[in-house]
Amino acid sequence: MKNIILIVFGVFFTIANAQFQLKLLGPSDGVVTSVFSDSLIVSLPPCSLAGKNVDLWYKNIATSKNNTLKNIFTVPKCISKRDLVQINQVQGYQVTNLKTGTQYSLQYIVDTNRSIVITANTTAVTSYSTINDGLPGRSAAMIVITVLLSVAMFILIVALIVSLFFRSTAD
Ligand SMILES: *[C@@H]1O[C@H](CO)[C@@H](O)[C@H](O)[C@H]1NC(C)=O
Ligand SMILES: *[C@@H]1O[C@H](CO)[C@@H](O)[C@H](O)[C@H]1NC(C)=O
Ligand SMILES: *[C@@H]1O[C@H](CO)[C@@H](O)[C@H](O)[C@H]1NC(C)=O
Repeated sequence: MKNIILIVFGVFFTIANAQFQLKLLGPSDGVVTSVFSDSLIVSLPPCSLAGKNVDLWYKNIATSKNNTLKNIFTVPKCISKRDLVQINQVQGYQVTNLKTGTQYSLQYIVDTNRSIVITANTTAVTSYSTINDGLPGRSAAMIVITVLLSVAMFILIVALIVSLFFRSTAD
């Protein structure tokens, strides 16, 4: 009897905590990257929740400042195999206006259902003004080409002088 109660409780507990998947999109979803300096692209809620309004909660982990975007879209219908032939688009949601180089946690809230919470970092950008404008900042290839050209020019001028000298002595 004790076992049965435990099992029933266990099943109930799992259902009550059922959270749907949420992830950053990646190459397997048809996008090169979903992480940018001021935005992140996340997957959509499962189409079993089609037609429901979606809220997105996110929090800047460093400052604990959190934000809920209300009714950002409704979950699209499931795409049948027949539609798949015609439709070949990436489905995701781009969370914009994020701070650069910052760690966020994100979660979807759809009615009573919630997604798992994920954490993701926006990329840090290097400001152009901090890039050293001096010689070390330039590409090595560029410097090598410049040196080779001036050496070639020097040899050409020497050859010209030598040939002029020989021509005048030949006359
Ligand atoms: C949504 O929540 C209900 C229970 O509240 C659950 O039965 C259902 O599986 C959940 N749907 C998804 C897609 O997680
Ligand atoms: C969201 O921020 C408010 C203050 O703006 C705070 O009271 C609340 O605990 C935060 N919620 C979460 C889940 O961090
Ligand atoms: C995300 O940012 C946090 C804090 O800025 C850092 O501790 C963590 O290592 C970063 N994670 C990745 C995967 O870069």
